[in-house]
Amino acid sequence: MVSLNMYRYVLLIFILMILGGCQTPSINEDVKNVKQTSINEDESEKDEQELEANSDLTIPSLSETFYDYFPIGAAIEPHQISNETSELLIKHVNMLVAENVMKPDAIQPTEGNFNWEPTDRIIEFAKEHNMEVRFHTLVWHSQVGDWFFKDEDGYPMIDEENAEKREQNKQLLLERLKTHVTTIVERYKDDISSWDVVNEVVEPQDEDGMRASEWYQITGTEYIETAFYAAREAGGPDIKLYLNDYGTDHPKKRNIIYDLVSELLEKGVPIDGIGHQTHIDIHGPTIASIMESINKFNELGLDNIITELDMSIYAWDDHQDFGNEIPLEILNKQAERYEALFHEFVENQDKISEVVFWGMADDHTWLHSFPVERTNAPLLFDFNHQPKPAFWSVVNIVRDEE
Ligand code: GLA
Repeated sequence: MVSLNMYRYVLLIFILMILGGCQTPSINEDVKNVKQTSINEDESEKDEQELEANSDLTIPSLSETFYDYFPIGAAIEPHQISNETSELLIKHVNMLVAENVMKPDAIQPTEGNFNWEPTDRIIEFAKEHNMEVRFHTLVWHSQVGDWFFKDEDGYPMIDEENAEKREQNKQLLLERLKTHVTTIVERYKDDISSWDVVNEVVEPQDEDGMRASEWYQITGTEYIETAFYAAREAGGPDIKLYLNDYGTDHPKKRNIIYDLVSELLEKGVPIDGIGHQTHIDIHGPTIASIMESINKFNELGLDNIITELDMSIYAWDDHQDFGNEIPLEILNKQAERYEALFHEFVENQDKISEVVFWGMADDHTWLHSFPVERTNAPLLFDFNHQPKPAFWSVVNIVRDEE
């Protein structure tokens, strides 16, 4: 049997050689190559099958399913566009945002030194695959270089007691902020239309309900105004400018944001909408409270976007860890809640213009290390990039309607 096969190979090689006019490698080499090829073919067939099972190309696409309602986005690190996550991204989302690389400390780590490359890569990938990109975030109290808040002599502005010097510091900080915003928006205004201008500026526990960040302590609310004006001036009327925050469903926080934004709008500050981070869990908050906020800001004439959606499988104050054994009932509960949430999003599509997940699959999420190190599974795809019960409950809302 073996020798008959060998004879066939040798014959085949000679025929190919004569037809192709190519040079003859030694017979031994050829036999070796044929064997090798057949092993590789088997292996690559197996790889392909595994790949297909992993990325499950036969399931519906999220972004196609919701195409008539709103774009579906995901937050990513640039390396994910060249690893296996890219297949999920290409199939399921039509909007990308950076998980970290657009944040102040990443994009302008030291004064005047901008690191464009990671954001450029995300934009390039998005263009290649017909996706939109959103920007997160021009201003934040966290992940921002210290240099912003140092005076000309390198001392922390916050410690200054002299009133005149404090005023000079404030102007210097606002100037730096304006340069930061203008430089970034001018570069990306044609590629990015949805911008988080400020992130998490409200904190109900702090005095006045405004977060007592260095931004606020040094400039009051002027930093917020400066950032929005600078973004509009650099980006023109077509880009959309958002104030982004978490816990926007909480009545107290919702009201503080509402009052702040109403006041700013009255002054003419160009704010287009509210970004609701929507880091929720399987127990709370109620979907009704989330929708109450959306309705309230809609009545103020503002757009609403869901910017960082994920759903922890634990209650916020519960530090247990399911490890590798997440109970099915938990995943089903998650599916039910995702379904209820998307049901509202679909019903209120005229008030919500983007829905962006904070991640793509459960193998990569900030919730593996927050609030403690543990397994979490907040997204629609599992650790192996397989659709979870939550994926089906979400896509079936639209499929059932059709
Ligand atoms: C906040 C920020 C995001 C991100 C998440 C956690 O919601 O807005 O940029 O840092 O926390 O990862």
